[in-house]
Amino acid sequence: MIKKAVFPAAGLGTRFLPATKASPKEMLPLVDKPLIQYAVEEARDCGCEELIIITGKQKRAIEDHFDSAFELEDVLMKKGKKELLEMVRKLSHINFAYIRQRAPLGLGHAILCAKPFVNGESFAVLLSDDVIAPGSTLLPEMIKIATEKGATVIALEMVEESEVEKYGIIEGDDEGGGLYRIRGLVEKPKPKDAPSRMGVIGRYILTPDIFDILETLAPGKGGEVQLTDALNILAARRPVYGYLFEGKRYDAGDKLGFLEATVELALKDSALSAGFRKFLVGLMNNELSS
Ligand code: UTP
Repeated sequence: MIKKAVFPAAGLGTRFLPATKASPKEMLPLVDKPLIQYAVEEARDCGCEELIIITGKQKRAIEDHFDSAFELEDVLMKKGKKELLEMVRKLSHINFAYIRQRAPLGLGHAILCAKPFVNGESFAVLLSDDVIAPGSTLLPEMIKIATEKGATVIALEMVEESEVEKYGIIEGDDEGGGLYRIRGLVEKPKPKDAPSRMGVIGRYILTPDIFDILETLAPGKGGEVQLTDALNILAARRPVYGYLFEGKRYDAGDKLGFLEATVELALKDSALSAGFRKFLVGLMNNELSS
């Protein structure tokens, strides 16, 4: 079973400036919960017990968010606000380890920072700006495949041709049931050079030998140590699998994706949906008649 989960959160979040100038992108809220909390809850629901967050400059708020908040809890307790108290205490019993990535040298480098904590086991990696709708079976399915095959498994999504330049794109053999044996990956190719339309999304189950590769890997595209390059080397040595996800994922690190996620999650929120739906319908009617 997979007990450890790594959350790289040291990126600069340039697509969301100016909001991310002094605040972490991972703390942007979807309705009322920060992005990183969705990912942490997803990992916990799959049985991951040791959670490792890779942080960087301007990321303090992440540590504070998962810490106890004595003054707030005390006030809520005295005022008898039990539900709010439960909400703020929900994750405070979890043990987090924080590792600082000194400079944003790339996702591959961020993952390498977790090596001393991972201790030779397979582990999950969750990118919190890729939000998977709560209750999805993606991560449990990936863990099952990784455990059965004793191999690395990465999540894939079928993307539009015009979007392939935003993703790592795989070339692979269809093994049925959404599973692909990966022959190679290309980081952000031009549509004409893309070997498929299957793009890598932010969920991975990695075997620990990825660290040996990352340790000696030279910077790739954009001058960053690319996880894609390391996976390519791994796939040439032993089987690496992709699992095609057909559920809903939001790229909340991008302004449009963030807005889409906010609207859809608000519409699913029992306390908000009726009022919000009414507002949206009114807005659409006004737009259509103007
Ligand atoms: P992204 O490229 O999506 O995030 O990296 P970013 O760099 O923060 O955002 P933009 O592209 O500038 O808007 C994917 C994930 O890898 C982490 C990011 O925090 C994000 O979760 N990352 C990236 C690191 O932890 N360290 C890095 O050096 C680069």
